[in-house]
Amino acid sequence: MTYVVVDSCIKCKYMDCVEVCPVDCFYEGENMLVIHPDECIDCGVCEPECPVEAIKPDTEPGLDKWLKINSDFSKSWPNITIKRDPPADAKEFEDKQNKFEQYFSPKPGQGD
Ligand code: SF4
Ligand code: F3S
Repeated sequence: MTYVVVDSCIKCKYMDCVEVCPVDCFYEGENMLVIHPDECIDCGVCEPECPVEAIKPDTEPGLDKWLKINSDFSKSWPNITIKRDPPADAKEFEDKQNKFEQYFSPKPGQGD
C-alpha cells in the first residue's frame, strides 16, 4: 500500500506534510503535492499533519484515480522536503468541492 494526496490539497498546499516524512517522498506541483507510491514506506506520520485531511491510505475505497495521479506526477514534479508559506488565498479553498475538475494543474511546482 501507500499513502496518497487527494483533492483537498489543491490550492491549499499547506506543506506541513513534507517536514515529517522520513523518506522525503513528496513531490510538488503548481498547486498541490503528491506522494511517490514506490518510495512511501506507509508510516502514516504525515496523515494527521495535514490541516485539510488531504492525505489518505490507498486502502480506503474509491482512491484509484488519486493513486494514478500520485504515481504519474511524482515521476515528473520536483521533490519537496522544506515547508514554505502556503498560497495567500489557501483558506478560501479549504471547503471547495470538485477542486480537481476546476483547479488541478499538471504543471510542476518549484521544489526545494
Ligand atoms: Fe512519507 Fe510516511 Fe507519509 Fe509515506 S506515510 S508519505 S513515508 S510520512
Ligand atoms: Fe497538501 Fe495537506 Fe500537505 S494541504 S501540501 S497534503 S499538508
